[in-house]
Amino acid sequence: MARIIGGVGTSHVPAIGGAIAKGLQEDPYWKPFFQGFDRTREWLAKVKPDVVVLIYNDHGLNFFLDKIPTFAVGAAKEYMNADEGWGLPVQKPYPGDPDLSWHLIESLVGDEFDITMCQEMLIDHAFAIPMQLLWPNGARPVRTVPVAINTVQHPLPSPARCYKLGQAIGRAIESFPQDLNVLVLGTGGLSHQLDGKRAGFINKPFDLMCMDELAHEPKALTALSVHDVIEKAGTQGIEVLNWIAMRGALGPSVREVHRNYHIPISNTAAGMLVLEPGEAAAKAA
Ligand code: DHB
Ligand code: FE
Repeated sequence: MARIIGGVGTSHVPAIGGAIAKGLQEDPYWKPFFQGFDRTREWLAKVKPDVVVLIYNDHGLNFFLDKIPTFAVGAAKEYMNADEGWGLPVQKPYPGDPDLSWHLIESLVGDEFDITMCQEMLIDHAFAIPMQLLWPNGARPVRTVPVAINTVQHPLPSPARCYKLGQAIGRAIESFPQDLNVLVLGTGGLSHQLDGKRAGFINKPFDLMCMDELAHEPKALTALSVHDVIEKAGTQGIEVLNWIAMRGALGPSVREVHRNYHIPISNTAAGMLVLEPGEAAAKAA
């Protein structure tokens, strides 16, 4: 049977892709951000995921405002990246895992999540940048299953709904008959607002509360409305929905392995959190 070996939450700012392309990892602006991933990669080498279920939000590359599903799951053999206009190098395709994708789709629909199934799916910076941070230099050691949550066009799904989606993703992975190690990755956030009167808005106390909550049982966070989160975290801070879904997949209890928090990267409070789920957490304790 497949097992979830851990969950990672990370920001997905496009400028990170520019810094990687220019080799700026040791630059004083970038170092406190990039060095936060050293221990994450050491941990990945230990837990050895075969597949990543990657929960993110599309920013207009694959879905636009005319048609945008609340929840979508990719079921392709591979996922192509494309130019979004940020000036980033286009990444080579990421391998998919159609068997796990279709199992996830069957299981989620059976669990009353009426998701959109995508046999072709362009993946944007919210997918490609976290993958480059976890597996640098174009490495492709894991297969991927993209799960897109709408954080762009209102009405958005609530934190509680995204947590339940994550729980359903967890059940789906754990009922997959292949012997696989699965990492669940949630990208975006933490607090940031890119436009309007509050452009540049960051809320460190709220971000730290989110990370603390996600490392335990995220009750206060899942009780918030979408508009509460936007008020506290900024318009694009609502991308924390992807982290909440990641956390839901891990089950009731988790162990925090590692975290990093650095302000700012571009307009964003950059967070990174590594969690192990209940059983793995109990073994390590
Ligand atoms: C920025 C952050 C994002 O989450 C994003 O999708 C695009 C840009 C930023 O801070 O520049
Ligand atoms: Fe974003």
